[in-house]
Amino acid sequence: MRKKVTIVGSGNVGATAAHWISAKELADVVLIDIVEGVPQGKALDLLEAMPIEKRDSHVVGTNDYGDTANSDIVVITAGIPRKPGMSRDDLLNTNYKIMQDVVGKVVANSPNCILIVVSNPLDAMAQAAYKISKFNRERVIGMAGVLDSARFRTFIAEDLKVSVENVTAFVLGGHGDTMVPLARYSTVAGIPITELMDKATLDRLVQRTRDGGAEIVKYLKTGSAYYAPSAAVCEMVEAILKDKKKILPCAAYLEGEYGIKGLYVGVPCKLGAKGLEQIIEIKLTAEEQAALQKSADSVKELVAVIGA
Ligand code: NAI
Ligand code: 2OP
Repeated sequence: MRKKVTIVGSGNVGATAAHWISAKELADVVLIDIVEGVPQGKALDLLEAMPIEKRDSHVVGTNDYGDTANSDIVVITAGIPRKPGMSRDDLLNTNYKIMQDVVGKVVANSPNCILIVVSNPLDAMAQAAYKISKFNRERVIGMAGVLDSARFRTFIAEDLKVSVENVTAFVLGGHGDTMVPLARYSTVAGIPITELMDKATLDRLVQRTRDGGAEIVKYLKTGSAYYAPSAAVCEMVEAILKDKKKILPCAAYLEGEYGIKGLYVGVPCKLGAKGLEQIIEIKLTAEEQAALQKSADSVKELVAVIGA
């Protein structure tokens, strides 16, 4: 039987995720939104691209959660994006209310699904979805690290003039200004980047990664990034649907790993058919551990505001 992926929120990230997923023929896709007509129109448009793309993914748009029934994966992108001058944290209360509206309906219709949360502020929204859904932590995963790491990889590849395929990088921590790009675990064809660039260059790329979301918002003015975020969603969806056991940086509910308990923070995760199948604990230096803890503390502050 074909796999079914529902995407809640048919805006920029949601619709573009539907595009990547159907273009790769990973699953049938249901786009849902509160705005009438938008998911239907975007889904039909995408469906009509399938003969050209030679793909048989079925794409449907709806405002009715009944159509999302028995999804294997539900991606939650519903919410408001930030505008220039806003931080991700400014979205907290509005998006928390949306999360409260959405998660219950998703769970009622797809009690066995795996949730991938995208809405910002990401770690706090993942925590909210985890608490509202009452799913185990294996089935509620936040998307941010794949995006932040892809940005870091892009900047490294551009600077060293090498293929992006040669660059691996890990960005851990919360999806915010305190995220932790891990230079020591970032490599080009297996060579640590610390051996390939000086500290000043590395520091500049790390800072550009931290500011990566704001850099796009500044250009777009009316919204935030969506091509790379939705490609990141698609990589996670593919890892789960194909049971790839792929190690990707994702927001996961920590239960003591990295010395952090009861909180969603970005860490290396193994994704497979069960969702989050393992949290990989890598050795951090005292400085890296302190940076991760600082990042976790800022997530904790947001989580406290919404009481999740
Ligand atoms: P958008 O404004 O283009 O789309 C959001 C959609 O959600 C709209 O179509 C809206 O009608 C819908 N929506 C609002 N309330 C809803 C509800 N109760 N039920 C169903 N749909 C609802 O925004 P965009 O650019 O797609 O971003 C979506 C969210 O993802 C934002 O919160 C943004 O900050 C976040 N984001 C997170 C990233 C990450 O790395 N975790 C990366 C990029 C965006
Ligand atoms: C980003 O990093 C807005 O969180 C989103 O682009």
